[in-house]
Amino acid sequence: MADTLTITDNRTGRQYEVPITNGTIRALDLRQIKLNPDEFGLMTYDPAFQNTASCISRITFIDGDKGILRYRGYPIEQLAEHSTFIETSYLLLNGELPTATELESWTGRLNQHLTLHENIKKFMEGFRYDAHPMGIFLSTVGALSTFYPEAKLIFDEEARHTQIARLIAKVPSIAGYAYRHSLGQPYIYPDPELSFIGNFHAMLFKRVGSQYTSDPVLERALDVLFILHADHEQNCSTSAMRGIGSSQTDPYVSLAGAAAALYGPLHGGANEAVLRMLAEIGTVKNVPAFVKKVKDGEGRLMGFGHRVYKSYDPRAKVIKQTAYQVFEVTGTSPLLDVALELERIALQDDYFVSRRLYPNVDFYSGLIYEAMGFKPSIFPVLFAIGRTVGWIAQWQEMLLDKDQKIARPRQIYLGEQERNFVPINERIKTEP
Ligand code: ACO
Repeated sequence: MADTLTITDNRTGRQYEVPITNGTIRALDLRQIKLNPDEFGLMTYDPAFQNTASCISRITFIDGDKGILRYRGYPIEQLAEHSTFIETSYLLLNGELPTATELESWTGRLNQHLTLHENIKKFMEGFRYDAHPMGIFLSTVGALSTFYPEAKLIFDEEARHTQIARLIAKVPSIAGYAYRHSLGQPYIYPDPELSFIGNFHAMLFKRVGSQYTSDPVLERALDVLFILHADHEQNCSTSAMRGIGSSQTDPYVSLAGAAAALYGPLHGGANEAVLRMLAEIGTVKNVPAFVKKVKDGEGRLMGFGHRVYKSYDPRAKVIKQTAYQVFEVTGTSPLLDVALELERIALQDDYFVSRRLYPNVDFYSGLIYEAMGFKPSIFPVLFAIGRTVGWIAQWQEMLLDKDQKIARPRQIYLGEQERNFVPINERIKTEP
């Protein structure tokens, strides 16, 4: 017998049988529940989508209670240890790890697309000297839409694959230009002869006219960070990507919207906020007073808590190990001790324990980025480079999903009922 849910409507005494599939009922199956035939029917109310599955996906699996994260079935810890960001991007997009030939062809394809149109450079030069790199990043990604009008052909497989390769290849170049812009330094052109990460490092840190070789430990650490950030199922920015893309926009403008959602301090902006918070705390002895302020409702402990993880974020575990490897090369950061003490105190404190608040991916990533020489305003952009792959994989899955339509939530209207227009001289002043 199929799994069903029996609902009794106490208003009418009628019973309804609703199928349960994959642990869910279809919200539209509730529409039949109504008092009169001309009524709209029952809806669900779920602000912030806390208990609503908006799609069927085969890309990323999370078990928030057990702290499990898998891409296409592969545990994140194994990918972080054995894979590269380029290989993981292939996996997320295509569902399988590439063979050696497929990997070579995918790498070659990305290398073809690293360069940005010269006018993009001019476009970026228009930003103020102190513009936040994330603002530059998301505007420039959106502007790419005007350079590739064929990107509108989202259902043409070949055209779509070209845009996918372009986006993954060009986002590090945009990030590199945005960073150099914020430092007032000349932009460095991408070099396809270098590795994907080595090229990115050079675009950020190379001095004009001199050679640059990135440290292999730091290169690998950034590769691992990009793998860890590559996808995280239906998070805020990915939902934005799917939501915008559902009106059949091209991937550039959809991705600009996703990047905008990532920018917020509750999402990808948290890594920048964590570092500012650690700097504000300053020393280990100030930690208890800071924790008290958080508990008193004066701000949040940034880098802690997650909508889905109610145990230690598996990405934070890998990042913590990576931080030690990076610090062996760069020397330790005084803020590491502050972070470790914060974590130690918070994990023993009933406020955090009872709310199941643990370090998330952003708690240690900022410390690594800082040790590598990045300034905090670029941190969300680094997150966006990794997450671009997930956004695109999820966008493509949405486009090919026959169940999907333009995203259009319902609302519960509790405002004024119909009333007649009042001429301006007859209106009574209403103070807010
Ligand atoms: N510090 C202090 N208290 C917190 C924190 C925190 N970081 N996070 C949640 N809480 C408290 C809330 O005040 C609330 O307490 P209450 O029940 O007494 O009102 C309770 O824990 C539940 O919090 P919600 O806001 O309902 O949790 P939600 O799932 O909506 O939020 C979020 C998740 C946004 C990540 C939240 O934990 C947060 O703001 N964390 C800090 C920002 C951060 O690190 N964001 C990065 C997330 S990871 C990512 O996006 C890549």
